[in-house]
Amino acid sequence: MNDTILVTGACGQIGTELVLALRKIYKNVIASDLKEPIGELKDTGEFVRLDVLYKNGLNDCVKRFKVTQIYHLAAVLSATGERNPEMAWRINMKGLRNILDVCVKNGIAKLFFPSTIAVFGPTTPRVNTPQFTVMEPNTIYGISKQAGERWCDWYFQKKGLDVRSLRYPGLISYKTKAGGGTTDYAVDIFFEAVEKKQYTCFLKADTVLPMMYMPDAIRGTIELMEAPSQKISTRSGYNFAGFSFSPAELATVIQTQMPEFAISYAPDFRQQIAESWPQSIDDAVARQDWSWKPEYSLTDMSEDMLRNIAAMHTSV
Ligand code: SER
Repeated sequence: MNDTILVTGACGQIGTELVLALRKIYKNVIASDLKEPIGELKDTGEFVRLDVLYKNGLNDCVKRFKVTQIYHLAAVLSATGERNPEMAWRINMKGLRNILDVCVKNGIAKLFFPSTIAVFGPTTPRVNTPQFTVMEPNTIYGISKQAGERWCDWYFQKKGLDVRSLRYPGLISYKTKAGGGTTDYAVDIFFEAVEKKQYTCFLKADTVLPMMYMPDAIRGTIELMEAPSQKISTRSGYNFAGFSFSPAELATVIQTQMPEFAISYAPDFRQQIAESWPQSIDDAVARQDWSWKPEYSLTDMSEDMLRNIAAMHTSV
């Protein structure tokens, strides 16, 4: 297809896989980040070093490559955000505002903004959290993403910018590790299972959180962006669900494939963050508007993760 796509934060957990998926569909997909790409990401297309805090650099890049769509993934996640609130607010908020302005200035056709389950807070109903409900996030990450959702909606209403957004649950993948999130244990556990046959979890055994396997997240993101505009009924962030589980439940699933695997628990400050988030998400609006449907079950995901991580270790 003829669009030229810019992806910020392209070297992150979502970016590395999303850029490759987009490059299978679009001829021109420009990856951008503060750090250099490696491997397939580097070998398959254009890379531009970009800091989302510098609007002029963003603007120059969009003009130079005649960018028509932006996926703005650059952000600081929940745990890192609590350790460095000032930095998280600056990158998540100023970065988004720069992108929104550059979009309007350059007549960008579509913008993708990743939101999160962290936009919900302790006063939100935690089971089957609805699309529209109480939202009082209590992490800087959640506050910045909720404000970001409101900015996106404002730019749609006032400036006609075609913004689309998903509230990602914890994303599980083996290609690039997550970094600085509260749901990261669900990635780390697989690497440690393969490498050490044991894992010490930073959340309590019964902490249930919504999660999704990365292939579903990538497919859902592209499906949302390709849906006809009139089908998009919310411009702030769609609830987006895969499956939910606790660390103990995940360990049991891993043990069916690796009986010797052992888990222990040493909860830290991330426990409090996890307890402020939903346990499960009602994504009926996404299902209805643009036919969202996840494919992977918890067991499918677990088998695929263990198989791929084991293969990566034997090929090194
Ligand atoms: N995975 C994110 C985090 O844990 C939530 O969106 O911060």
